[in-house]
Amino acid sequence: MDKADADYLISLVRAIPGFPKEGILFRDIMPVLADARGLSILMDALVSNLPIANDEFDAIAGLEARGFLFGPALAERLGKGFIAVRKAGKLPPPTVSESYALEYGEATVEVERDAIRDGERVLIVDDLIATGGSASAARDLVISCGGVVAGFSFIMELSGLDGVKALGDHPTSSLLAMP
Ligand code: ADE
Repeated sequence: MDKADADYLISLVRAIPGFPKEGILFRDIMPVLADARGLSILMDALVSNLPIANDEFDAIAGLEARGFLFGPALAERLGKGFIAVRKAGKLPPPTVSESYALEYGEATVEVERDAIRDGERVLIVDDLIATGGSASAARDLVISCGGVVAGFSFIMELSGLDGVKALGDHPTSSLLAMP
C-alpha cells in the first residue's frame, strides 16, 4: 500500500472522543468498509501485508465483531477457511473460553473446540489492536485447541498502548498506526 492509499484509508476512519466511555478515542472502521474504493484498498493491502507467507498458515481466525467483517473475505481471497472467535454464550458446545481485560471493560471469548485441528496454523485477524487483550485471548484459545498461532494481522494499531508486545513473539502486521 502506498502513502496515498494509506492516507485515504486514514481519512475514512472516524475518531469519536468519549465513546463508549469517557477517555476513549474510538476509531471507527465502518466508513472504510462502506466506501467501495476504501474497501478495495483495504482488502488488497491486507493480502499484500500478511505477516507471513500464504503457505505458512492454514486458516484465519477472526474476532467478533469487526474481525467478522473482513476476516471471511480475506480467508476466501487466500484460499483458507475462517474460524469465528465469538463472545461468550453464542456458540454451541463444546467450546473453549478465555477471559481478558480490554481498554474499556472485561470480556470472555470462545471458539468451538472442534473448529481447530491439532497442529493447524492459524492467523488471527481483527480490525484494531489496543492493549492486545482480546488478541491475546484469541491466541490462548488457538493454543488450548491444539492449534499453532502463525501470526496476527490488524488493520489499525493504537500506538502507545504496546498491544503488539503483549502478544508475545509472533509475526504481526498492522496496516495503519493511529495515535
Ligand atoms: N477497541 C479497543 N480500543 C478501541 C478504540 N480506541 N477504538 C475502537 N475499537 C477499540
